Amino acid sequence: MCGIIGIVSKDGFSVKNTLLKSLKRLEYRGYDSSGYVTGDGELSKRTGEIDPLIASINESTTTKVAISHSRWATHGGVTKTNAHPHFNTDKTIFAVHNGILENFQELKTTLTKKGYKFISETDTEVIPHYFDDQLKQGNDMHQAIKNFMSDVRGTFAILLIKKDDNQIYAIKRDSPLVLGLAENKFILASDIYAFSDETNKAIFFEDNEYALISEDKYEFFNVNGKPITKKIMEFEWTREDETMEHYPHYMIKEIKEQPSSSLRLINSFETIQNNKLNKLADLMKNTKRIVFLACGTSYHASLIGSILLSDLGIYTRSIIASEADSFVKYDEKTLCIAISQSGETMDVVSQLKKAKKAGAKIASLVNVPFSTIQRLSDVSIEILAGQEVCVAATKTFTNQVIVMLELAKRLGYKIDLKQIPKKIQQTIAINEDKVKEMSIKLSKKRDIFVLGKGMSYPMAREIALKLKEIDYIHAEGMMAGELKHGTIALIDKDVPVISLIPNGNEEMISATQEVKARGAWIIKISNVEGKGDLIVPKCDEAEFAIYSGIVGHLMSYHIGVILKREIDKPRNLAKSVTVK
Ligand code: G6P
Repeated sequence: MCGIIGIVSKDGFSVKNTLLKSLKRLEYRGYDSSGYVTGDGELSKRTGEIDPLIASINESTTTKVAISHSRWATHGGVTKTNAHPHFNTDKTIFAVHNGILENFQELKTTLTKKGYKFISETDTEVIPHYFDDQLKQGNDMHQAIKNFMSDVRGTFAILLIKKDDNQIYAIKRDSPLVLGLAENKFILASDIYAFSDETNKAIFFEDNEYALISEDKYEFFNVNGKPITKKIMEFEWTREDETMEHYPHYMIKEIKEQPSSSLRLINSFETIQNNKLNKLADLMKNTKRIVFLACGTSYHASLIGSILLSDLGIYTRSIIASEADSFVKYDEKTLCIAISQSGETMDVVSQLKKAKKAGAKIASLVNVPFSTIQRLSDVSIEILAGQEVCVAATKTFTNQVIVMLELAKRLGYKIDLKQIPKKIQQTIAINEDKVKEMSIKLSKKRDIFVLGKGMSYPMAREIALKLKEIDYIHAEGMMAGELKHGTIALIDKDVPVISLIPNGNEEMISATQEVKARGAWIIKISNVEGKGDLIVPKCDEAEFAIYSGIVGHLMSYHIGVILKREIDKPRNLAKSVTVK
C-alpha cells in the first residue's frame, strides 16, 4: 500500500524517465495520487494515476536526488493537498511515507502548540514538521531520527530529504523498504520490482533501522544510531515480458501466461525447489497443528490446501490473517504457513511476528523473493509466477494451488502435475468465446451467486471475489449446502447462479436443482462432457479448482471489458496491502 521511491545519483538522472518510471512500476501499490520532489525543492503532485504526472514533466528535468510517492489513501481523502510529498512550512524538509503513524494526532497537537501549521489531513505531514522542530532544537539528523523512532507509534517506511542537501534519510519499521544498488545510482523503494530492470543487488531494511544515502555511499544504522553492516543480496526475478504485448490489459495477459508460468513452477519442484519442498513436507508431517494465514485470493488457495491436507489426516486450519487473533494461540507445536503473493501483506506479517515470538515454526508460499514474509520464514517456497501487474491475482493464485498440490503429493496425495499446463491451455481455448458471450448478459445483472462444495467452495468464493473487485457486481461465493439456510430467499427468476460441479458431485447437482426450481439462471461449470454449460478438461476435484478458477477469472475479465471497468487497477484497491 503506497509505493515510495527515492534516488540518489552523482551523475544526475531524469525525473521523468528514471524516477517516475520506477514509481510507475510500483503503481499497483496505490493509485489515488502521486507526487515527487527533487533535492532543490521542485515539487509536483496530482490526484489520480501516475501517467498525467509523467506527461506533465519536461524531458530535460534532471536532478541528483529526489523522492516520490504513489498513494493509497488512509488518513485524509484523495486530494492534491493530501498527496505526498509533505513538507514543513518553509519547504526545506520533504517526506514520503508508507504506513500509518498511530499517534499522529498527539504529535500534531504538540507541534501545533509550538506554532506549526498543518495544511493536510494526513498523518504523514507530522513528519516534516517533527524534523523541523528537532533541528530547531539543535539536534542533528541522527538524533532527530532516534527521537522520532522512540516518539512515534505505528508503521513506517519514510524517505526524507532536506533541500539542497543531496542525500536521502530512509527510516523503516514494519512497512517494507529496500535499497537497490544500481550501476550509477542508489534506489530506495518499497519493493524490488521498482528497480529489478536495473539491478539484482539489494539491501533489505529490517525493522527499526535507518540509512543515510548520499551520492557515493550508503550507511545503515540501528535504532540507537550505531552503524551496522548489511548484507547485499542478489535476487533472481522470473521476468515475463513486462509490457502488455498485444493484450489490452495485464489481467488477460496474465491469465493467458499460465501455461508457461505453471510449467516453470512444476519444473522447479524436482530441481531448484526440491529440498525446500522436502523440508516443508517434513515439517508438516511432524507438527501438531498447521495454521494457514492469508488474505484475499491467497486465502482461497490456503483453503484448498487445508482441504487437501485434512483429507490426508493432517490437522489444518485456514485463517484470514486479520481475524487470526480471535482464533489461534501460537506455540512451539504450531506450524504457520503464510500464503502471500506479495509477501508483504501486513495482516499476515503481524501474525507471523506473533507466531515467531511464541516459538512457532514459520513457512511460506510467496511470489516476491526476499519479501518480508519470506525473510520471516524458516522455509519458503517460491511460486515463480513472475511479476503480476494486475491488482487482482490470477496466475499467482493458480501457482499457489499448484504448490499446495505438490505438497499434498509429497504427503501421499495422488496426482500428475505434469498435465496441468496443457489442461490450462485447453481450458482457456475451449471456454473463452462462450464466456465472452455469457458475459454480455451477466454484465447487466446486479447480483451473482456462485455455489461450491468441498474443494470447489474456495473457488466459489474466489470467483465471487473477482466479480466484485473487477466488475463491481455484488456476488456471493457460497457453500452450496448453506444456501437453503437463508440465501435462497434472494434467488428469483433470472438471478444468475454459477454452479461448480466437479465429477458429477450429487450434492452440487441437488443444490443446483433447488435454485433452478426458483427460476434462477444456472451456469454450470463441470469437468464432465455434456454435463455443464462450461466444460473444463477431465481432472480430479483439486485440479478442478484451478480450471474452474480460470473460467471464473475469464468471466470477470470479459464482464469488466463490457462494463468498461478499470480492470488492472480497480477502484479503492491495492495489490500490496501493507497497512492493517
Ligand atoms: C489485496 C489484493 C488481492 C490479494 C490480497 C492478498 O487485497 O488486492 O488481490 O489477494 O491483497 O495479497 P497477498 O500479496 O498477501 O497475496
